[in-house]
This record gives sequence, structure tokens and C-alpha cells, in this order.
Amino acid sequence: MTTASVLGGWQEGGGPIYLRLASALRDAFRRGEIPTGSRISTERALAREVHVSRATVVAAYDLLREEGWLESRQGSGTWVRKHPSMVTLGEQRPGYFGRSTTTLRGLIEGRGESVEFTVAALSSGSLPLREAVEAAMPDLDEAARGHGYESVGYLPLRERIADHMTAWGLPSRAEQIVVTTGAQQAIGMLAALYGRSGDAVVVEDPTYFGAIDIFTALGLRPEPAQVGIQGVRAEAIGRAAVRSGARFAYVMPTYHNPVGVVMPERERREVAPVTTALHLPLVEDLTLAALSLDGQEPPPPIATFAGEVPVLTIGSLSKLMWGGLRLGWIRAPEEVVLRLAKVKLVMDHGSSLVTQCVAARLFERVDEIRAERRRLARERLDLLMAELREHVPGWTWNEPAGGLALWVRLPYGSAQAFAYVAARHGVDVVPGGASAISSGFDDHLRIPFVAEPEVLREGVRRLAAAWDEYAPDEDVPTAVRSVV
Ligand SMILES: Cc1ncc(COP(=O)(O)O)c(C=O)c1O
Repeated sequence: MTTASVLGGWQEGGGPIYLRLASALRDAFRRGEIPTGSRISTERALAREVHVSRATVVAAYDLLREEGWLESRQGSGTWVRKHPSMVTLGEQRPGYFGRSTTTLRGLIEGRGESVEFTVAALSSGSLPLREAVEAAMPDLDEAARGHGYESVGYLPLRERIADHMTAWGLPSRAEQIVVTTGAQQAIGMLAALYGRSGDAVVVEDPTYFGAIDIFTALGLRPEPAQVGIQGVRAEAIGRAAVRSGARFAYVMPTYHNPVGVVMPERERREVAPVTTALHLPLVEDLTLAALSLDGQEPPPPIATFAGEVPVLTIGSLSKLMWGGLRLGWIRAPEEVVLRLAKVKLVMDHGSSLVTQCVAARLFERVDEIRAERRRLARERLDLLMAELREHVPGWTWNEPAGGLALWVRLPYGSAQAFAYVAARHGVDVVPGGASAISSGFDDHLRIPFVAEPEVLREGVRRLAAAWDEYAPDEDVPTAVRSVV
């Protein structure tokens, strides 16, 4: 019996053809018509049997491999795994096996030989880390006299962060700051504070995929508000909140990830009337806000124009300094800080005091570090754009105003299917759908520009080779064109 003989009617339904093929194969595994532990047709043979291109079968097999259904054995073809345990787990608790675990696979499994165009964070590079550690030693001696648990954070660091926020145009005091283990934890703490399983949360579409993971892990329902070339409109946040009865909203007004746009000050001032009318707390994630690429300073945070309903501002040192510090914060009204202190206590009893002492010292050189990071990010962006123009001339983009990733539009085909081809060419890249709340953005890729120049060049060469090979079937509908 051939693999194709149990796939009757597989072409019915909508969506990209490789997904339909993968879905039919999955059903056949579940029904036992293709038994676990058996070998299935080679990519070339199945392509012939079901009359599709080999690239379609490759994309379907890659997806099933990733889901844990299939494994390839050197020299003996592709097999249905005997114990597809990952699949079962994934089905039971989808939230905990979210998009990041697929998209940032390298963080879990190691990088291997692939060029990783997934994580948008610079290496520590010229960061004066060693000097900061040395300068922090006496502070640590002093701090170590106590028990070391500081639920809201190390006071000298909270003071530095408050000054940093004040310099952004948002007057702040240390009492308004909670230190977190990265912005990722900050999003999770605020989601835990404002949402309960089953509640809706307004998010931009597209948005940061790590936030989608947290929200779905907590059982929240993301409700999309469209992002345009000037970010999200206050009115769109309001409409999404009314539609869904959302408990809070999560936005990235300054250097949106992945689109790279900025919400203008005029629009920021429109937010408070909407959130006040709807009693909608608003979380603004400013993780990327220090990384201007166009020489302009961004407008002040939305919290500067807050009304009666709180605006919670998230910051992080991951992009401005280094992700390995795992240091972020929330700036909130004092009464909210007290509630967040309880959440933080439950989550991890407080962030590492060692890191916080070092971070407080790094803040002494924040202006110099920021200037260097901006220069480096600009240089890498220029290099990435030049390489893409030369090697994949059909790809287009709007230059980002800030941040560390380029939001690239493909002229045709499916970014998800292309990403599988790219992975076989030795470059991991994130398709736009990973950032989507709706089913859109499969015409986009998110490409970070953080790697060393030679790695960036090599990555683009591999992308170009994959693009040459990638030939979508004619019946793959061209992805819905996205607004941004
Ligand atoms: C918008 C945004 N928020 C939060 C995070 C998580 O950052 P951290 O490393 O501080 O946890 C990222 C990281 O990519 C991000 O881009």
C-alpha cells in the first residue's frame, strides 16, 4: 500500500496545500492507517503519487517532523515515530508549547550549523560588563548582609531605572518601579494581574510572538487591533476591547516588534480617553524603545498622557545592553506596584540581586552604551538591506524607525512554507504568521539584524539559495496582502 492510497480527498478545504497534505497525513497516523513505526514514501515518490511539487511534500514532512510525528533516519528514509509523545503533550496543553518553542528552537536544542535569523538581540559586544561587575563588588558585599530577597527589586537599581524613565519624558520615582526577570516576565506578571483564564486581551496584529505565548498559556484570548504605518490607532484598541470585553490591552508604541513603526505623540494622547471610558488598563512594552535607527528621539511613553486608568510601562536591558542580564522592569502607579510585588513573590521571590547590582553600575554608562548600540544596529541594518537588495531583489520592506528586526514582504507564496525550505538550506527564519493574531502575515518574514557581518552575509546567501529553490504550487493562494 502506498502512502498516497490512504489520503483520499486530502485536497479538499482551504489554506496552503502543504498544510492540507500534512493534515491528511496526521489523520492517517491517528487512525492507524499509516502505523506508527512504519516507513512512509520518500518525498519524491509521494510528490509523484499525489501530483504536487516536491517542495510541497518537503514542507509537509518538515512540519510533521517538527510536531514529533516523523523522524528521518540517515540513509533509510522517513519513518512515523513509534512514540509521538511531543504531539500528545502539545495537544493537551497548547499554550505551554507555544510559538516561541518552534520559532526559537535554537534556544532549546542548540544552534547546530544553521544561521539563526530568529532571536533579535545583540551579543554583549563592547558592553563594559567586566568593569560593571568589578565596580559592583562592594555593593554586593553590602547587599549580602541581608537575606537577599527583594520582591520589587534592589533600591539603587530602581532609582536608576526611575531616572532613565524620567529622561524618556515620563517623570518616575523608585517607588513606581518593579524589577523583573526580563520584559518577558513583566508581560506575564501583568497578564496574571489583570487577566483570568477565558478573558480577552487586546493585542496589536501582528505582535511580539512571545507575548502571544504568555497570553495563550494563561488561557487568555488575544483580540486583534490592526497595526498601520503609524502603529495602532487608539480607536482600534477601543473597538477591539468593546468587541471582546477585554480586561486589558498590550501594545508596543515605540519600535513595534516586528513592524518597526512608532505611534506618534498625537495618537498617544488619544489613548487615555478611550481606556478611561472602557476602564481598560493598558500595558505598553518599550523593550525596544532605546534603539532608534533614524536619528530621531521617539515621543514620550503613553503613560505620560495617562488618565485615571493605569498605563503600565515595561522596559528591559535586553536590547539596550544584553539579554543575558535577564533584567527588565515595570513602571506603574504605586498602588499597582504593591499588587505586582505579591505577583513577583509568588513567581520567583524576586530577581537575582547579583545581576541587579551589576545592572545598577551599567546604568552609570547608559548614554554611551545606547549610542554604541544604536550605531551598531544601524550598521547591521544597512548591511542586511544591501545584501537583500542584491541577492533577493523581489523582496520589499519599509525601513524600520527602530528596533532590531526587518519586516520583509515576499512577492508571492507562503512565508511558512518558505521557512521550511530555508531551514533545509541552513538558515532559520521566522515567518510572519508567528506574530499574527489573525490568519494573516504569511506574506512576511521577520529578519533580525544582530549577527556579525559575515554571518549576516552568509545567512542572506542561504536565504537566496532557498528562494531560488522555493517554487510554490500554482494552487497555493497568494497570501492575503497585509497592510504593513
Ligand atoms: C517587544 C518585546 N518584549 C519583550 C521581549 C522579551 O525581552 P526580555 O529579554 O527582556 O525578556 C522581547 C524580546 O524579544 C521583545 O521584543
